[in-house]
Amino acid sequence: MKKIAPSILSADFSRLGEEIAAVEAAGADWIHIDVMDGRFVPNLTIGPPVIRSLRKITRLPFDVHLMIEKPEAHLDAFIDAGSDLLTVHLEAANHLHRTITHIKERGIQAGVSVNPATPLALLEEILPDMDLLLIMTVNPGFGGQHFIPTMLSKIRKAKAMISELAPHVLIEVDGGVNLDNLSTVAQAGADVLVAGSAVFSSGDYGHTLAAMHSLLKS
Ligand code: DX5
Ligand code: ZN
Repeated sequence: MKKIAPSILSADFSRLGEEIAAVEAAGADWIHIDVMDGRFVPNLTIGPPVIRSLRKITRLPFDVHLMIEKPEAHLDAFIDAGSDLLTVHLEAANHLHRTITHIKERGIQAGVSVNPATPLALLEEILPDMDLLLIMTVNPGFGGQHFIPTMLSKIRKAKAMISELAPHVLIEVDGGVNLDNLSTVAQAGADVLVAGSAVFSSGDYGHTLAAMHSLLKS
C-alpha cells in the first residue's frame, strides 16, 4: 500500500499539535518532519525537543528527514525523541554505512536521501542496508517549490535498481508533489509520497488526503 506523508514544514507552527491531529484524522499515513540546520540547507527548522513534544499527540509514524551536516552527531537525540524512521543525506554523511548501522541497531528504520543532482550510482553498495531511499525532487530547504521534471526518470531508474539489488527498500519522493502529478510520481515507482504545501495550503485536509488516496488506488 502506497502512503501519503504530509510534511509539517507547511503547517501552522503556532498550532503544530492541532495540525498533526487534523491530518491524522484526514487520513495521513506518516508525519514527515523536516529538520534543517542552516548549513546543509539555507533554512532552519526544529530539533529533538519539538519532536519529543509532538510524540505525545499522535501514534502515526514519525518520518524524520535530517537536512543537517554531520548527522551522526545527532542520531541518538532524534531516536530518543521518538523518530520511527530517520533519513540522512548521502551528501552529508561521511561514513554512511556506520550511520545507517547505528540507526538500525537502535531499533528504528534508516533512510538515505539524495539531492536532485546526486547520481543514484553512489548508492549501489549501501542499498541492501537501507530501509528507504528518499529522492528529493526539489532542492531541499523550502516548501512550496516546483517538482523538477527530470526527477521522474530518476525515480524510474531507482525503482529498477531497487528491484534488482534490494527489493525491500521503499522509495519516498519529496518536493513539489501535488494532486496534478501524484499519480505520475506513484506510477514511476514512489511508495511514499511527501506532500507539504499541497496538503497544508489546501482548505480542506480531509478532501485533499481523500483525493490523494483515491489517485493512488486508480
Ligand atoms: C524540502 C522538504 C520537503 C518539503 C516539501 O526541503 O524536504 O519535505 O516540506 O514541501 P512541498 O510538498 O511543498 O514541496
Ligand atoms: Zn522533507
